[in-house]
Amino acid sequence: MRRREESYREVAVDAMEIIIQPDPEHAGDLVAQEIVRLFTEKPTAVLGLATGSSPLPIYRALRRRFEAGEVSFAHGMAFTLDEYVGLPYGHPESYRAVIRREIADHLDLPPESLTTPQPHTDDLDGAAAAYDQAIRDAGGVDFQILGIGENGHIGFNEPGVSLGSRTHVGTLTPSTREANARFFEGDLDQVPTQCITQGLGTIMEARQIVLVATGPRKAEAIAQLVEGGVSQKWPATILQHHPRTTVIVDEEAAAGLELLDHYRASYGAVPTWRAT
Ligand code: F6R
Repeated sequence: MRRREESYREVAVDAMEIIIQPDPEHAGDLVAQEIVRLFTEKPTAVLGLATGSSPLPIYRALRRRFEAGEVSFAHGMAFTLDEYVGLPYGHPESYRAVIRREIADHLDLPPESLTTPQPHTDDLDGAAAAYDQAIRDAGGVDFQILGIGENGHIGFNEPGVSLGSRTHVGTLTPSTREANARFFEGDLDQVPTQCITQGLGTIMEARQIVLVATGPRKAEAIAQLVEGGVSQKWPATILQHHPRTTVIVDEEAAAGLELLDHYRASYGAVPTWRAT
């Protein structure tokens, strides 16, 4: 399936945009507003969805706005970032199940328009390559939602990953498995060790990226992402090379940023977010 060529407000920006919000709910609603605006202008848009806790306020806000009749996803498509390998089919913590439960099943997005990596196969490398190709065939992701790991991962691109990586089979670090044990009754043994994840090179092809992070545990990763050197050690830093990335944080996650006053002033100078 090939997508039409129309482009959604291709805006060139001079820097990563940093927006500080008072709490996760405000951050979520700001992103939901932008998604509504995208689908109003381009009903066939392709959404990139993330799992984990950070996007949940976005999904709550998006559900409210959909229920209020502000937006339709009937002609849209969605791809997730990643999927665990090794969970039984239909496991409630598989990312396909999570995304359906938290957002997709509550919208008018046709079920066949949600695509997630296929971990139930003997050919995981083939499944990863097919996923990368499916995103390309859809015309690429218009709007990618991201969270960030405490170690700077995006998707499941753990420290050391190639900055140009495509969708691949990856191994979760012990710290990521520990962080995610909360979704598996706190039992580390239940957390898979492997995943299929969009690569950094794949994520970088999204036309617009919004990364959301809240709470003090994300402060170091945010400082590295925004002001550190680009390095495989902090995979999210590759986003410094992306032409249109917005980072939305609360005060706690922003606490390690040296140029905070500048970011506040820059955002305050624009009347509405990325007004065009
Ligand atoms: C989720 C994902 C991860 C999470 C990250 C932060 O699909 O790929 O990169 O975004 O681990 O997770 P939370 O938001 O739970 O802190």
